[in-house]
Amino acid sequence: MSDRLFHMTAQTMFGMEDLLVAELRDIGAQDIEKHNRAVAFRGDEACMYRANLCLRTALRVLVPIKSFVVEHEEDLYYGIKRIRWEQFMDVDDTLAVHCSLHSERFNHSQYLALKAKDAIVDRFREHYGRRPNVELEDPTLRIHLHVHGDNCLVSLDSSGGSLHKRGYRDRTNLAPINEVLAAGLVLLSGWDGRSNFVDPMCGSGTILIEAAMIAGRIPPGIHRQQFGFQRWKDHEPKLWKAVREEAVAGIDHQARPLIMGGEISPHVARKAESNIASAGYKDRIRIVNSAFADLAPPPGGGVLLLNPPYGERMDKDEDINAVYKMIGDTLKKNWAGWTAWMITSNLEAAKHVHLTPKPRIKVFNGALDCRFMRYQMYSGTRPRPE
Ligand SMILES: C[S@@+](CC[C@H](N)C(=O)[O-])C[C@H]1O[C@@H](n2cnc3c(N)ncnc32)[C@H](O)[C@@H]1O
Repeated sequence: MSDRLFHMTAQTMFGMEDLLVAELRDIGAQDIEKHNRAVAFRGDEACMYRANLCLRTALRVLVPIKSFVVEHEEDLYYGIKRIRWEQFMDVDDTLAVHCSLHSERFNHSQYLALKAKDAIVDRFREHYGRRPNVELEDPTLRIHLHVHGDNCLVSLDSSGGSLHKRGYRDRTNLAPINEVLAAGLVLLSGWDGRSNFVDPMCGSGTILIEAAMIAGRIPPGIHRQQFGFQRWKDHEPKLWKAVREEAVAGIDHQARPLIMGGEISPHVARKAESNIASAGYKDRIRIVNSAFADLAPPPGGGVLLLNPPYGERMDKDEDINAVYKMIGDTLKKNWAGWTAWMITSNLEAAKHVHLTPKPRIKVFNGALDCRFMRYQMYSGTRPRPE
């Protein structure tokens, strides 16, 4: 029954919850509730498809199927075994179990995941004399356990792996920023999708591609080969096709703001160009192989988003403070009238920008505790507060 409403949870990154709430409102989700790094909501089958296809700041969309009390490992085993798994998968299908653990009672999330997997395969073996196989990379069914205190919540991962894997680039070399973080930063910057947008240290071009997709209202999952729900037993291909068509019809083909990337390394600049070309955004994004200090700002002002090196992988001889001093000097000299945003984990080096950021938003780039900071570069005299 495709119009039945059910509970879902979209997981996200620290600091992106409010953006995700707004995105969920836009796709018509109901009973939206903000949590830490997650947003719970209700919706129908079409809403689940839309959430996976259209949410830029979601990492995955989980569908809870059962919760029960776990005081011992055995409770977990029997609680999982009681679930009618044959409703969700066949014996010839494959599975993967992931566990997130926030409980004093247990030590190892991987051990609990293993215990849960044993319970599922034992149930099948007892019913069919055969068992489904585990497949970590590309399983038919991804199962997610969330053990919090003495509660175990069992969910199905409708995304089938993290949604940051948009499917628009080959994921070799470099160390690009996560796509969900990139989209989140563009949204946090408040860029209107119409004025100029520049990433002067663009690396492989992720922030630029996400910006182009935001400006064009292009669904972030449009390039992705497959979502988890497409392999579910109750998948409705016709409904999925309709949801995709509706999202594609919403693309704004007229919106062509200037989106420009700068990059000091010729090799990396070429890589960005090839990423952008293979994503199909060659006519929306321009790459210039240039040092930031020499990059000419396009006329008209706009938003500048910087993800500079944090100094983690730099040689001892290279001076990370000098990089941030150059950023500050260049902003003051060349980018008056622009709104600059910078993400970094190196707060000591960031002091060398010698500008006062406001606001400073706490975000994480992987495990790195970062700040996303705005520098308003006024042109002429800074307006006085009323
Ligand atoms: C942290 S990486 C950016 C990663 C990028 N956001 C991505 O998703 O791939 C920083 C980039 O800035 C470039 N860079 C360093 N100093 C620069 C400078 N002075 N001007 C322009 N680019 C610079 C580096 O070559 C590197 O590609």
